[in-house]
Amino acid sequence: MTAPEPHIPPQTRRQARAERERVLERAPEPPTTTRPLPVLADPGPQRRSRRPSTGRTPTRVGARAVPVAPTRREARAVAVLQGHRAITAPQHAGHRSARVGIAALAVATSLMLVSAASVTAAFGGPELFTPQQAGEADAPEVTARLSAPVPATAETIPAPTVSAAPAALDVCSRPGVADALAAGDDAAAIAAAGGPEAFRAAVAGGTAGCVRLDDSARVWVVLNKTRPHNPLDYRPASLELPGGVRSIEGGALRADAAAALSAMASGAAAAGVGEIALLSGFRSFQTQQETYGNQVGAQGAAQADLTSARPGYSEHQSGLAADVVACADGCGTLDDLAATAQGQWIAANAWQYGWIVRYEAGYQPITGYDPEPWHLRFIGTDLAKAYHDGGWHTLEEFFGLPAAPTYP
Ligand code: DAL
Ligand code: ZN
Repeated sequence: MTAPEPHIPPQTRRQARAERERVLERAPEPPTTTRPLPVLADPGPQRRSRRPSTGRTPTRVGARAVPVAPTRREARAVAVLQGHRAITAPQHAGHRSARVGIAALAVATSLMLVSAASVTAAFGGPELFTPQQAGEADAPEVTARLSAPVPATAETIPAPTVSAAPAALDVCSRPGVADALAAGDDAAAIAAAGGPEAFRAAVAGGTAGCVRLDDSARVWVVLNKTRPHNPLDYRPASLELPGGVRSIEGGALRADAAAALSAMASGAAAAGVGEIALLSGFRSFQTQQETYGNQVGAQGAAQADLTSARPGYSEHQSGLAADVVACADGCGTLDDLAATAQGQWIAANAWQYGWIVRYEAGYQPITGYDPEPWHLRFIGTDLAKAYHDGGWHTLEEFFGLPAAPTYP
């Protein structure tokens, strides 16, 4: 669609051409017959004033503010644009050169949203951002550029499809896991979950919803300063004295832990490192109250909290912890153990019997306790192997739990 043709009285050929150029300059824009494309609309003086530089020369900027007589080439460029109204939105009359630049800039902007490569291919790069240069080019070239295929607008660019990664299967849906848990068979549950490392990874990764690390009856229970027994005065169903092991204070252990301590003591003896004895096994809530109270009285609460658990927070209350000492004729103290052959053997081999050294040197910021090379925690032979093979040093890290250096 073109602008209405005005009545022009007969004049000289030169005057007629000049008048036509003036008419083109003033002619009202014809209505747009196609849907407006917002990205092509002239943003108006205020928006334009904030627009980044397009590389126009100061002369062209001035021409936008103070209309000047158009050149013949510019008039031709306008006529070419009018032949392509279908791709432009209504524009303000009287800014012919600016229209060229604005339309070109908008088309280029739209193209950039689609593909920088297509912009380069179709329009030859940044030339469209310099309308003066474009206007000075010969008309066929301008026509060719503006006749290039119109790209899709930003509105029609298909949204990228983001497909969520498939959720990891919860190990609890594996055959046998639920049944083993219901039967209280921790070893069978670990095996049904795919083995100890798969079990650990699932727990740490949050894909073992049926595995409760706060269940004091499970070998995988994690007790620390932020994870007390529930109930606080929890007691194991049964306790046993470890066969073949001297129990200095008469302490007992849960049956599986007692058997594992017996096996470990036998292993140490067979290896020729000497006797390992049990100094302290199960301690009830009440016993722990007394133990902790004695430590507070002797060292003060702050130091006691680094060496003794508060009642309700000790692994000894689960029946799964053993404080061991080395014996020859007599038995040494807890502090003596690390320097003995038994202590060194324990550090290297206890995992083979299902035990881990729970409070290692250097991990107080995680466990909340000073090193205790004598405090062994039974987690079962399968998990202890995974713990050893994985190079773990705390149960918190093993199961992906937060550090627990202090009480809440
Ligand atoms: N000595 C350890 C931290 C306990 O009392 O359980
Ligand atoms: Zn202990």
